[in-house]
Amino acid sequence: MIDTPGRAEGWVSVFAPASVSNVGPGFDAFGFAIEAIGDTVHARLRSEPGVRIVSITGDGGALPREAERNTASVAAASMLRRFSAPPETPGLEIAVDKGLPLCSGLGSSAASAVAGAVAAMHLVGAGREVDVTSPEVFEAALDGEMVAAGGRHADNVAPSLLGGFVIVRGVDPPRWARFEPALRCHVAVVTPQIEISTRAAREALPESVSLADAVRNWSNAATLVLGLVQGDRDLVADALVDAVVEPHRAKLIPGAEAARAAAREAGAFAGGVSGSGPTMFALAENEMAAAAAAAAMAEVFAGEGLASVSTTTTICPEGARER
Ligand code: HSE
Repeated sequence: MIDTPGRAEGWVSVFAPASVSNVGPGFDAFGFAIEAIGDTVHARLRSEPGVRIVSITGDGGALPREAERNTASVAAASMLRRFSAPPETPGLEIAVDKGLPLCSGLGSSAASAVAGAVAAMHLVGAGREVDVTSPEVFEAALDGEMVAAGGRHADNVAPSLLGGFVIVRGVDPPRWARFEPALRCHVAVVTPQIEISTRAAREALPESVSLADAVRNWSNAATLVLGLVQGDRDLVADALVDAVVEPHRAKLIPGAEAARAAAREAGAFAGGVSGSGPTMFALAENEMAAAAAAAAMAEVFAGEGLASVSTTTTICPEGARER
């Protein structure tokens, strides 16, 4: 832990939630924030220019400590560039508390980047009200996310920043459509203990897709959103299917197809790979069914010789916020 970051010492602390991205047919476009788990970034001004990382906890020493290679500090530095004007260019020091496992498919790098960008905005926002919907924060968080993910896709950044369910419509400039699903559901997330980097998972994808698969996906994507907005469980159950990306990604996760089937048998009505994996998620009508789905998926992974970590949660309407 760092020395008691708190308001008295000038520290600002921002929490950003985990997220499930892609959500079946919405590759690089859909994501929703989840309750209970996420990353926290503490930041305060310092007189020297630039961003310095003073500590990182919860990562087992795995994350880079160099400011130019860490998602949170790159995002904070991007905010600094956008808002601070010479000659009074301030620097920042930041401390990162990782609540999310790395390379898990739960938007870990995005959560750190979002928390870094928002914490920096509190400090260098030139007196502007901190507004998580401002394009500058979105772009700065995306600058941070790029360091880890290697691409400018915002389907984890957007829900972690904004909460709810977000459709990313563009990143340059940032455009999105956000809503809170009328469908009430619980979410099971199970992370088997293998790491899959987003870069590796993207390299596993084909360069082109058949027209038939594309048609299936855009039909499913539109139907899924309609089902979520209308609270129609059957539509969501039928449409949360990806013909384009998941078939390739599932091959990287031992037991993925069996885990998905086991979750359905245990009472979930939909599910799939979370982001680039290896986390699998399942949607269920109530907490008990979500817990049963999580247990069923964990059992499949155990059969593959993989320990796993399970969480039962809900879609989180709130995005990044000060703590
Ligand atoms: N849409 C991204 C992917 C999310 O699946 O590669 C992971 O960051």
